[in-house]
Amino acid sequence: MSKNNELYVQKNALCALKAGDDGVKVTVIGTGWVGLTTAAVFAFLGNDVIGYDVNEKLIEELRAGRVPFFEPHLEELTREGLANRRLSFTTDIGAALSTAEIIFLAVGTPPAPDGRGVEMSFVSRAATVIGENLRPGKLRVVVNKSTVPVGSNGWVDSFIRQGLAQQGDAGPVDFVVASNPEFLREGSAIADTLYPDRVVIGATDARAIEALTRLYHPILTQDFTPPSFLPRPAGRGKVPLVVVDPVTAELIKYAANAFLATKISFINEIANLCDFVGANVKDVARGIGLDHRIGEAFLNAGIGWGGSCFPKDVIALIREAEAYGYEAKLLKAAYEVNAAQRFVVIRKLQEVLKTVRGKTIGILGLAFKPNTDDLRGAPALDIIRKLGELGAIVRAYDPVAMHRCRAEVPDLPASYANDIYNLATGADALVLVTEWEEFTQANWADIARLMRTPVVIDGRNALNKKYLEGLGFVYRGVGV
Ligand SMILES: NC(=O)c1ccc[n+]([C@@H]2O[C@H](COP(=O)([O-])OP(=O)(O)OC[C@H]3O[C@@H](n4cnc5c(N)ncnc54)[C@H](O)[C@@H]3O)[C@@H](O)[C@H]2O)c1
Repeated sequence: MSKNNELYVQKNALCALKAGDDGVKVTVIGTGWVGLTTAAVFAFLGNDVIGYDVNEKLIEELRAGRVPFFEPHLEELTREGLANRRLSFTTDIGAALSTAEIIFLAVGTPPAPDGRGVEMSFVSRAATVIGENLRPGKLRVVVNKSTVPVGSNGWVDSFIRQGLAQQGDAGPVDFVVASNPEFLREGSAIADTLYPDRVVIGATDARAIEALTRLYHPILTQDFTPPSFLPRPAGRGKVPLVVVDPVTAELIKYAANAFLATKISFINEIANLCDFVGANVKDVARGIGLDHRIGEAFLNAGIGWGGSCFPKDVIALIREAEAYGYEAKLLKAAYEVNAAQRFVVIRKLQEVLKTVRGKTIGILGLAFKPNTDDLRGAPALDIIRKLGELGAIVRAYDPVAMHRCRAEVPDLPASYANDIYNLATGADALVLVTEWEEFTQANWADIARLMRTPVVIDGRNALNKKYLEGLGFVYRGVGV
């Protein structure tokens, strides 16, 4: 779509709307982190939302107002939606689709089992089932929110058509597929959805753009009353709407994650150099980040990125390039730097303890970042496995992720502590892997007394080096 067209569509779509319009009937397919957040937020904004998932146990929990994963305020918002009947959950796809005007696809797109691309079977299955169950009637806009390889918009369309074909001669079904990539971060998912930096719509059909712009109107204009627990950030103005074609929208999502991942790998490479030359990476990051062309965000050196998105999205973009015979050298390097970076803490342990064999190492944090219990791609798991291989006795503590870790990674060579002080007792070293506030705010004087030897490896540069050294700790950060 040309720039002029884009502006024309945005202007007209926004003009056609006003605050107080009736809510939109929304169905969300897949009620995990992204789907449930989307469902709860749009219900909060006055729409009628049905969440559908194939996981019966999950739907049972959600119906009872319990969110079985950790995301700040999501349970509160879900309960509010259930109480005012704006939000409901079902495993019945027919019921889920019967009234829908906008259908979001928010199913998982994990790495493919061979690690070489994206597992798209959840998307294809969901799209086929949508096709099998859409009935003739008003226009339905099917919106792909899952992060998918470029070109998936048309691919989803083809699976919906295959599903429709299964129905036989049910009459004409009017639908259009659009892309609406998701940029939320776990740990601040609701804030990111209510107060996003931008909304991206990938569509060429004016009706799809109009429907999505109508749904997003309160967010774009910021004219909703914020939830009591999440006030609107000071200075938060209107939210830019980026309307592009679907392929561009899909690439925007991958490019955003690849850029952020590369920025972290970049500063980690500088941090490793700082360790050699004796410079301080925190000061380097500030010194370069104050340049507005660079910016200070995402320049925290440490053990690198993990999670359910960055690793798989960077790989997906590398594979995408390969499909066209292009080698994405920069992205490959960013990935490789990151894959090695998590083991920097082991090198530092070996520097201080000489050998880790038979030593008790306490791991502070399992989740891939604070304020989530998500363990997908978590550096802690690789670090623990490596320490296990090296003969260390590994203990771990995480404020929220231990329950999930026991269930999802039963063979992890680690035992669990009740809290940070229990973890510290008798430990030869602690490794900070996830920068939970509970760890940065802990009583480190008590911790020093409880440890066999007060050694701390700060994999996130989140602790106060001078203060800890004053308490008698041997402190090692990454590039500081
Ligand atoms: N988690 C994040 O921080 C984040 C951020 C931005 C984008 N994304 C993208 O959003 C998508 C969803 O991610 P997520 O973290 O919410 O995944 P998730 O694994 O938490 O949730 C996916 C849900 O989809 C359900 N599902 C699978 N197949 C289904 C089907 N055929 N019909 C109905 N439900 C089905 C699963 O049961 C599960 O509950 C992915 O493409 C991801 O890359 C995730």
